[in-house]
Amino acid sequence: MARIVFFTGAGVSAESGIPTFRGKGGLWERFKVEELATPEGFAKDPAKVWKWYDLRRKIIAEAQPNDAHKLMALIEKEHGDVWVITQNVDGLHRRAGSENVLELHGNIWKVRCTACGISYYEFKTPLEEYPPRCRECGGILRPDVVWFGEPLPPGVLEKAWELSRTSDLFVVAGTSALVYPAAQLPFIAKEGGAYVIEINPESTPVSRIADEVMRTTATEGMKLLYRRLKEGRYL
Ligand code: APR
Repeated sequence: MARIVFFTGAGVSAESGIPTFRGKGGLWERFKVEELATPEGFAKDPAKVWKWYDLRRKIIAEAQPNDAHKLMALIEKEHGDVWVITQNVDGLHRRAGSENVLELHGNIWKVRCTACGISYYEFKTPLEEYPPRCRECGGILRPDVVWFGEPLPPGVLEKAWELSRTSDLFVVAGTSALVYPAAQLPFIAKEGGAYVIEINPESTPVSRIADEVMRTTATEGMKLLYRRLKEGRYL
């Protein structure tokens, strides 16, 4: 059976009201990456980092999956060998019903103890204290996400690599494709012989290797893709 992989970024959740990182109105225009998304920034001021994460958790808690998330989930139900490899930490792909989801950069609803290493879901927002404390040992918790300068969770990159290499249709949606190692995946897919489609209103480094570019939003692009899949256009 032909394999479909969706490789997604913040642009897929933009229409759910969750800000992207780069570009106009992006988070990194207003906030400092080094203070909020690095191990050094966290070591310096864990309360500040947690307040920022708690704000984002609140926005995400109030957001709903959009048609792009939903159509990816529907295609998985209908087609079977379908995977979502996401850089997003918002969990909206699973909330939309996707089951084969690989979260490259962790999940904003997960916390990890800096003392005992335990990791668990904590859905409370606002949190009671900054930084929150481990329910097992009382140590300082951190968001269980991947920050700049940190490796991806064990095994995740290998799995993403393998899925990309063996995909037949590889859809890159809503990512600036600038952050490595994630940004390598479309190139791995292309080398492996996949038909690569990009859905993004803006040009990215993937545009020049894509077999097809949909210069539109994730929801519009996914509607078009869904219709074309039904017509047997790609597989
Ligand atoms: N539909 C599709 N794409 C969109 C939409 C939309 N409605 N709105 C914006 N975009 C596109 C932008 O053109 C841009 O290319 O989404 C992309 C968002 O890029 P980034 O903000 O850089 O997000 P992402 O690629 O996911 O970032 C990667 O950077 O800071 C880190 O860890 C963070 O996982 C994140 C990583």
